[in-house]
Amino acid sequence: MEKVQYDRTGKLNLSTIYDRPDPVSYFSTLSQLDYAIPQAAKPLFARLIAARRSSTGRDAIKVVDLGCSYGVNGALLKYGLSMATLYRLYGNGFGGGRGDLVKRDRAIFDDPVDDDLQIVGIDQAGNAVDYAVDAGSLDGGLAADLERDGLTPPGRRAVGDADLIISTGCFGYVTERSLELLLEAAADTRPWMAHFVLRMFSFDAARAMLERHGYITEKADGLYRQRRFVSQDERRHVLDNLAAAGIDPAGAEATGWYFAELHVARPREKARKVPLAALLDGAVAVGAGEALTH
Ligand SMILES: C[S@@+](CC[C@H](N)C(=O)[O-])C[C@H]1O[C@@H](n2cnc3c(N)ncnc32)[C@H](O)[C@@H]1O
Repeated sequence: MEKVQYDRTGKLNLSTIYDRPDPVSYFSTLSQLDYAIPQAAKPLFARLIAARRSSTGRDAIKVVDLGCSYGVNGALLKYGLSMATLYRLYGNGFGGGRGDLVKRDRAIFDDPVDDDLQIVGIDQAGNAVDYAVDAGSLDGGLAADLERDGLTPPGRRAVGDADLIISTGCFGYVTERSLELLLEAAADTRPWMAHFVLRMFSFDAARAMLERHGYITEKADGLYRQRRFVSQDERRHVLDNLAAAGIDPAGAEATGWYFAELHVARPREKARKVPLAALLDGAVAVGAGEALTH
């Protein structure tokens, strides 16, 4: 793993592995930290995709993945892969160059388990987005930092008919500003939102923004393992952040892991009809001590 640095929130600074021409550094570093949130998210996203399909009455569904990196959620949701498989595919390096790796991956991302799922990724890491689109784990991609630059007209078109907007490991880097831009761009389809957010990051401002747009945000039961702390230093930073937010880490972060929660936002009229717990029935984590292995 590369030299350890921390960002302003006390998290390990991983920016050096986010934008490489191929995914090898990303997966080989994150596998050492047992990065697991896309895997934990997979069954919950699957439930939400099914629920969104019944609400639109269409099988065709467009999912926008904010902070998509190398198309991780696309690989899991559209191609049925697991994080264990991605770690095996990239985590031990690769002998050839980018072109050879793309060629190998095109064969893997040639056979969707869900043909009707269209997945479009957004990430500020242009190389990661390009790789995912070239390899095929994403149907479309947008290299953009919405926090800083907003959405361009082509960007608005790319996300304009979204049915569901998801993220794993990204909120905190992005804020309600990015979410609001996406919501405004997709005002006609009124997309649902589902974001896995570390407990040390407040979702309050996003919830208030969503409420202004006529959305209700619900938090799913359960805590979801994101990754291990890399060091005692990182652990201390995180426990300090949680203490400042009045969150008790006992049985969760105190065991050496980051934990995330799932925030789901739906238009008020939909959310009132069917509570989130009913949509997710059976797919929520049992407790902080449980590792989800779907
Ligand atoms: C921990 S990674 C998570 C990637 C992927 N969702 C996953 O779970 O494997 C965080 C991602 O957020 C992206 N990111 C950070 N700041 C961003 C921003 N302002 N706009 C869009 N993406 C951003 C990074 O480039 C990186 O790909």
